[in-house]
Amino acid sequence: MNKDIKAIMISEEEIGAAVSRVAAEIDRDYGNVEGRVLLLAILKGSVVFMGDLMKKITLPVEIDFMKVSSYGADTKSSGNINIILDLARKDIDSCNIIIVEDIIDSGKTLSYLVEYLRHKGAKSVRTCTLLDKPSRREVDFTPDYVGLEVEDEFVVGYGLDYDEQYRALPYIGILRPEVYGESEGNA
Ligand code: PRP
Repeated sequence: MNKDIKAIMISEEEIGAAVSRVAAEIDRDYGNVEGRVLLLAILKGSVVFMGDLMKKITLPVEIDFMKVSSYGADTKSSGNINIILDLARKDIDSCNIIIVEDIIDSGKTLSYLVEYLRHKGAKSVRTCTLLDKPSRREVDFTPDYVGLEVEDEFVVGYGLDYDEQYRALPYIGILRPEVYGESEGNA
């Protein structure tokens, strides 16, 4: 195990089971929808989950990406979202979008993006996250598909980073507190 990891919170096997379950839920719900099904991953944390999820879904899906960042005096609590890479499609009105995230914390990123994409004219918008930390919520937001609910620990791996490190770990691990010092949590 990586020396900076205190403990494995979610093993590769547990992640695989959660991904398969979410994929089956999406297959069930989107089997008869009109239009395209578009998995929209929010860079960068979601890329590992996206890669596994898209392989497990048996329906024909398309993929796309957006990148956003928080900005403002207190970036993580300001809720101001800056779009760095936008979704550029002319046929958005035929797209049933499923936003794919690695983790939901305050809920601000996804609640903003859902409204943004609806306003842009998407046929439908739902949300899917591998991890949910409901205890950290600052806005009223409930994702449609959740892999696993987790406690408020600083977790890394399977796409999740601390200072851009640890994204390539195949499991979700709890980071040793001495590594992140005074920083306040994920996301
Ligand atoms: C994380 C995560 C979500 C967001 C969730 O991204 O991937 O996009 O934060 O936080 P919220 O619910 O409080 O809005 P991050 O900003 O860490 O970027 P990254 O995906 O590139 O690591």
